[in-house]
Formats: sequence, structure tokens, C-alpha cells
Amino acid sequence: MRHLIGAATLAAALLAGPAVGSAQGAAGAKPDIGHGEGTFNDMCMSCHLKEGGGQGPTLVGVVGRASAAVPGVMYTKALQDAHLTWTPQKLDEFLTNPQVAVPGTAMPMSVPDAKDRADLIAYLASPANKP
Ligand code: HEC
Repeated sequence: MRHLIGAATLAAALLAGPAVGSAQGAAGAKPDIGHGEGTFNDMCMSCHLKEGGGQGPTLVGVVGRASAAVPGVMYTKALQDAHLTWTPQKLDEFLTNPQVAVPGTAMPMSVPDAKDRADLIAYLASPANKP
């Protein structure tokens, strides 16, 4: 019975979602910044330390930043030559499959689910991820 109630609640939430945030998010639902932060902590933070100095560059303030622009980071030539600006759209492409977006990049992690990416990018763009 608990499961049935859970499923009904979830269905209600899914039905309510698009009406609330129809213009927002790649998957059409309002992005969930808290979920995005959880994904960041699980999948990204081990390399992308907030204070820098990890295997990858800090991602604090990454949205709107030029690619390969954190001083002192040993970027690959592939990413240095990509000349991107990390808009939400570009981050979405990159995180779908980094090797397709920037062939030769050393960034190994993809986020296959569109809603997970939308939530993650909403977190990266949020005040919680500003310097
Ligand atoms: C195993 C380590 C590792 C993990 C985990 C990882 N990354 Fe990276 N990431 C890197 C490295 C290394 C680079 C630099 C790539 C290059 O120079 O080609 C990078 C580069 C990036 C860049 C480009 C930054 C810039 O300054 O241009 C973005 C954006 C990025 N990663 C996002 C993420 C996100 C979001 C996650 C979690 C879903 C993640 N990464 C998980 C290692 C990692």
C-alpha cells in the first residue's frame, strides 16, 4: 500500500510540474537545484574541488565563463582550442558526451539523463555556486 501511495504522489507531482515551470529546464520541468547539487557532490566534486587544485578546474562560477580559462590549470590542447563559452546550452552538450562535444578532452564524466543535466546546470548557475 505504501508503494501505491508513493506512486500516486509521484504521478501528482509529475502532472503538477509542467504547469508550474513550462518554460524552464531542458526536460520541460522546473529544475531542481537541490537535486543538481546532490549530483554535483556525487559525480563532480571529487575532481572539481570548489577551491581549485583538484584533477579538474574549479567549477565555481563556470556558467558564462570561457572554456579553459582557470589560471594555473593544465588543460588539454583540445579544450584550449575549443574556444567555448560555458552557457547552459554548451554545458548541456558537453555533459551529454564530452568526447563528442570536445574530441580529445580529458574530462571523463558524462551525465546521460537530460533532467539530471538540467538540474545540475541549474545548480551550477545558482547563487550557491558563485564565488
Ligand atoms: C575524474 C575526474 C573528473 C570528474 C569526476 C569530472 N570532471 Fe570535469 N573535468 C576534468 C578534467 C581533468 C577537466 C579538464 C579537461 C581538459 O583539459 O580537456 C574537466 C573539465 C570540465 C569542464 C570544463 C571547465 C573549463 O574550465 O573549461 C567542465 C564544465 C566540467 N569538467 C564539468 C564537470 C561536471 C559537471 C562533472 C560532474 C558531472 C565533472 N566535470 C566530473 C575531470 C573530471
